[in-house]
Amino acid sequence: MTFDKKLVVEAVNQLLDEIPVPGTSSSIMKSGVIQRVIAHEGEVTVVVQFPAGLTTHEGSISTRIEDELGTIEGVDKVTLLHRTETPGAAPEATSGAPGPGPSAVGAQEIPGVRHVIAVASGKGGVGKSTVAVNLALALTARGLRTGLLDADVYGPSTPKMLGIEDARPRATEKETIVPIEVHGLKTMSIGYLLEEDSPVIWRGPMVTGLLRQFLFQVEWGKLDYLVLDLPPGTGDAQLTLVQSIALAGAVIVTTPQDVALLDVQRGIQMFQRTNVPILGVIENMSGFECSSCGHITEIFRSGGGEDAAKRYSVPFLGKIPLEPATALSCDGGTPVMLSDPTGALGSVMTSASEQIVSLVAAS
Ligand SMILES: Nc1ncnc2c1ncn2[C@@H]1O[C@H](COP(=O)(O)OP(=O)(O)OP(=O)(O)O)[C@@H](O)[C@H]1O
Ligand SMILES: [Mg+2]
Repeated sequence: MTFDKKLVVEAVNQLLDEIPVPGTSSSIMKSGVIQRVIAHEGEVTVVVQFPAGLTTHEGSISTRIEDELGTIEGVDKVTLLHRTETPGAAPEATSGAPGPGPSAVGAQEIPGVRHVIAVASGKGGVGKSTVAVNLALALTARGLRTGLLDADVYGPSTPKMLGIEDARPRATEKETIVPIEVHGLKTMSIGYLLEEDSPVIWRGPMVTGLLRQFLFQVEWGKLDYLVLDLPPGTGDAQLTLVQSIALAGAVIVTTPQDVALLDVQRGIQMFQRTNVPILGVIENMSGFECSSCGHITEIFRSGGGEDAAKRYSVPFLGKIPLEPATALSCDGGTPVMLSDPTGALGSVMTSASEQIVSLVAAS
């Protein structure tokens, strides 16, 4: 029988979310017992960590996980890996093998970089890179030394958005990489290392290895903020990254449709489970303002991002409307924060950067 990884992972997550923590109304999924789920070729590996108060239930919960996951079609073997509360080893540069636990555990700092923030979304194409690029520029405009790391190895878009697709970073004698500087930002992207349109056919371990190189072997120098443009989704690549570095927080980008909002939940949960504070939710592509008459058409339902932020008690950082100028500006290599800093997107980015700076300072 064929092994459909996506279906299996969905079924595993659903079953784990139905197993209660004895004596509470929470599930083992929500309470953080489940650290990681890896599905591969008929085998499901679940990394679990039982907090001190739950160790008496460790045996019964473990048996229940094995029994329940064993009933999923296509799953031949269920393996449980028990993590202890002592700090884990440094992150492994592999995918498909259990990595470190929560960010607070094996997470490393980047020397010289004060705060690393991630821009993430559960779903692709919602405007994550647009937000990451313009947010980084908004931080620069506040006089903060800022870097931008395009962590979307499979779909790098920041070189194009910054208008520097032909830039090629230099390696030093120490085998470190010098980032490309543009508009006052230090930037790094796999896009600088690829020929145009060449597909990236890399397996997980190579990707995580490369990302670790980009984090730790790039001459970032002294930065107040390093903004990470994460690849879409909440899979292995994102999790490895989130667990590898000490993140000051995450910004979640969404569009207002219900289908995108379901993914917001996953994004928020991934960061919460890894102890990364959510700095806020940004709703992008929220309504379309006619440039002739000013009428706003709600192409998708508006306000969903704000509702989601309320539901999860995380800050709402603002709504960015759909604007042809934004698409043209991004695709043309001049970010809106530079061409129209006081327009709709620019204003949201300015206020979001202010809120983010205060939230990070307060944490
Ligand atoms: N508010 C907006 N108004 C108009 N166009 C927008 C807006 N936000 C983003 N876009 C356009 O939508 C497209 C997708 O945006 P972007 O690349 O930022 O999304 P993404 O979430 O990073 O996508 P991926 O998941 O592929 O990395 C781009 O062409 C961008 O110019
Ligand atoms: Mg992107």
